[in-house]
Amino acid sequence: MPINIAVLKETKQGEKRVAVIPATASRLQKLGATLLIEKDAGLSATFSDQSYLDCTFSATATAAVSDADIVLAINPPSVDVINAMKPGALLVSFIYAQQQPALIDALVARNISCFAMERIPRISRAQSMDALSSQSALAGYYAPLLGAVQMPRILPMMTTAVGSLRAAKVLVMGLGVAGLSALATAHRLGAVTEGYDVRPETREQAQSLGAKFVDTGIDARGEGGYARELTADEKQTVAKVVSEHIAQADLIITTASVPGKKAPILITKAQVEQMKPGAVIVDLGAESGGNCEATEPGQTVSLQGVTVLGPLNITSALAQHASELYAKNVLNLLTLFVKDGAINLDLEDDVIAGTLLTHQGARRDKPLSASKETSDDA
Ligand code: NAI
Repeated sequence: MPINIAVLKETKQGEKRVAVIPATASRLQKLGATLLIEKDAGLSATFSDQSYLDCTFSATATAAVSDADIVLAINPPSVDVINAMKPGALLVSFIYAQQQPALIDALVARNISCFAMERIPRISRAQSMDALSSQSALAGYYAPLLGAVQMPRILPMMTTAVGSLRAAKVLVMGLGVAGLSALATAHRLGAVTEGYDVRPETREQAQSLGAKFVDTGIDARGEGGYARELTADEKQTVAKVVSEHIAQADLIITTASVPGKKAPILITKAQVEQMKPGAVIVDLGAESGGNCEATEPGQTVSLQGVTVLGPLNITSALAQHASELYAKNVLNLLTLFVKDGAINLDLEDDVIAGTLLTHQGARRDKPLSASKETSDDA
């Protein structure tokens, strides 16, 4: 018997991505799976139903999942969809359990084995499955582009017949996957770049991308490679050093987050008021509340001549590539336990054990250090 895989059409407002693209659909077929895809699931990511070869299509999500052994999605499905799944089936999607108590109850009650994509361990072996990283890399790439079109000036130095225009100063605050990607894009666009983070190892990473590192002398390394929250004293020290860099920047991109917490505030309203007229802030922390006090998630606001963007689900704007990377992350995860047309969950495997959120009618949460629970998808 082949394995039945269902692919859901995303229903979250503004979501354009899809969990399986035509290329990964045929790879899944080679693993011994048949695919039932919800009608038009890939359309907003540029993948028409016709481009998925040898797949069948279903008009509704509940019909798609009713006979599926594995259900693939990006955002958490509704409780109705979970309740339409076969008991014992597998679900692979972002879940963010802290925000979804009713969904978790449904997964447990229905005996669904749920792989929560945000729980993929941040270890070398799992890099090809790490959807947080793949989506953050794209979001970070896009942030300087979003900011650039809001600026009343250009990013690179330009020499003209009437003199030279100075390159813009871009400051990136928070140098995880998204922040480093943002630094790389801003550098490629010709800006003078600076990076800031509370994990000292990011100094070298920023410098390798042509940026200066803003050194505050703080070391706030937390568990599992993530940052910890700063103390009140540390926040004051940081504010003294970074205020000047904030005031001089033409474009600031913020990406800071701390697992399990609201996004830390890196820029106060008072600091925004000290910025240059025409300066722009792109706050990628908007998804979990915002890194800037002036940010309104999902909105673009103006404060004393400074434009503050709080984009949500930024990867949907790059739905084709974001779907391609997510679909490959999911495919690589599935190759761990789908072999020769059968599903075999080895709970001794670090990646399987770390990612499984519910299994055999119980929750299996690991400590936060092994996963990330703060935001929506990156
Ligand atoms: P994240 O989204 O959790 O946070 C973004 C950045 O914000 C981090 O660099 C963090 O240090 C920084 N930050 C937090 N509070 C701050 C504050 N108050 N001021 C300034 N910066 C602040 O980070 P992401 O991208 O999820 O990466 C987390 C860690 O996981 C990093 O160490 C990264 O290198 C590591 N990682 C490892 C992987 C692997 O080995 N497979 C894959 C991806 C990431």
